Amino acid sequence: MQSFDLVVIGAGPGGYMAALRAAQLGLRVACVDEGVDAQQRPSPGGTCLNVGCIPSKALLESSALYARITGEAAGHGIDVGSVQLDLARMQARKEKIVRQLTAGVGYLLKKNGVSFIPGRASFKGKEGEQIHLTVHREGQETTDIAAAQVIIATGSVPRTLEGVPFDQERILDSTGGLALTAVPRRLVIVGAGVIGLELGSVWRRLGSSVTLLETQETFLPGADQEVAQQALKILTQSGLRFEFGIHLEAVEKTTESLVLTYTRGEESLQLDADVLILAVGRCPNTAGLDLGRVGLVPDAQGRIPVDAHCRTPVAGVWAIGDVVRGPMLAHKAEEEGVAVAERLAGQLPEVNLAHIPAVIYTEPELAWVGWTEEAAQAAGRAVRIGRFPFQANGRAKVRGAPQGLVKVIACAATDRILGVHILGPEASELIAEAVVALEFQASSEDLARIVHAHPSLSEALREACLGVDGRTLNL
Ligand code: FAD
Ligand code: NAI
Repeated sequence: MQSFDLVVIGAGPGGYMAALRAAQLGLRVACVDEGVDAQQRPSPGGTCLNVGCIPSKALLESSALYARITGEAAGHGIDVGSVQLDLARMQARKEKIVRQLTAGVGYLLKKNGVSFIPGRASFKGKEGEQIHLTVHREGQETTDIAAAQVIIATGSVPRTLEGVPFDQERILDSTGGLALTAVPRRLVIVGAGVIGLELGSVWRRLGSSVTLLETQETFLPGADQEVAQQALKILTQSGLRFEFGIHLEAVEKTTESLVLTYTRGEESLQLDADVLILAVGRCPNTAGLDLGRVGLVPDAQGRIPVDAHCRTPVAGVWAIGDVVRGPMLAHKAEEEGVAVAERLAGQLPEVNLAHIPAVIYTEPELAWVGWTEEAAQAAGRAVRIGRFPFQANGRAKVRGAPQGLVKVIACAATDRILGVHILGPEASELIAEAVVALEFQASSEDLARIVHAHPSLSEALREACLGVDGRTLNL
């Protein structure tokens, strides 16, 4: 039996980053992952690289390019003639990027001396300080390993809806929704959350008629509502159809279509679809871990309970990423992985869950960090707000993307920036400056006094900061 200082279960962004950092710090590390590609070859990188962040952004990029060529090129004085969509090539490009990046994770683990063990890990038990695990791989002998420290980084899986089982042909989860080989004529997505909006955008741009059915009355309730409502308006104008406050009753499969029956208030409604994607959230993945053998019990939401430093109630066992509390985001999982590795090496890192940026990669992108206006109101916190529309930003204008705004929320008493909300081009990049500002406890005056390049989208953030004090210049 092989013994290590640390075994990491899962090689997603949480797990592989934890393994890399722990190895850098001198620990003997093994990383176990059961993920495989279509050819059944080990494919580290987790949901993020294989079926999440990366493939979805690849398709968003390709579909945005297609939409720009078909919709905007002529306005720039560029005639391109007839434009053909080759979806197979678009999907092959996506797969190639995924392969390159997952191979890159394998390379990094090897380069840092991490023992990568393909297969499914489960707990066997604890003997003194040592935690024992077995690794099972289809068609191979099981491997027993042990370590004094174990990090569980097993991620999450799509939530299912009772009575609507996935068939991965016409009723799909997000993985199926990323792998379609033909553009569906009528696509219905249940859940107008992050996945629904991103996948809906991809297939709408490529020609589908897309309807999003959402159970809540409010669009993106976790986002600042002024900004979310602007986003909803723009997304609706782009052709996405939304229905809020619905309750899905049944999905009937006929040879020609899927017939969805749902209610909205007292009304009973029906909708036909060729393809249905369920994007109703994700659940922590603890299946097959045999947590009970080390005395670990998931909480009511199925998450592994942890403290602020990702320590579980069982000595030597840690858990990070989607399988624990907090937002299900790759960068959050990564930071937790690095922090646990550093704590194991005697350092005292902290992950500030209050300043994790959120991004939705629609067009325009929506990104935010910190407090919303609603949260400030609910907490009785007096705030001052600055806004700046991209309509008045030169760079956004020349890019042909003048929609959206930057909204800065600052403490009325101290001027400290509490939240930043950006709806606009490259919001995913612009939000980084806001995260730095929040982490360094900057005031809106601080950002307003920093020189921003001209013409750049970042000037909109500076102007919104000037706006907190009623000093916006270019409006
Ligand atoms: P995962 O990435 O899920 O990795 C868990 C790993 O554990 C997997 O590789 C799995 O094979 C392995 N595993 C599980 N059980 C075992 C076991 N018993 N033994 C061995 N191995 C095991 N987040 C963002 O921040 N930005 C985005 O743009 C974004 N886009 C997304 C798009 C989609 C379509 C989806 C579905 C998700 C997206 N996410 C995005 C979320 C992001 O993918 C997750 O938050 C992130 O992958 C979580 O990382 P993790 O390390 O906790 O788990
Ligand atoms: P989500 O929580 O963002 O959205 C799910 C939506 O489905 C919610 O609006 C919810 O109200 C709705 N819903 C739930 N049950 C329903 C029902 N029965 N009928 C109709 N609507 C229903 O979850 P989503 O979109 O599945 O994404 C999962 C996770 O993946 C998220 O936590 C997100 O953080 C992460 N992710 C992040 C991305 C990013 O950072 N850009 C991109 C994609 C996913």
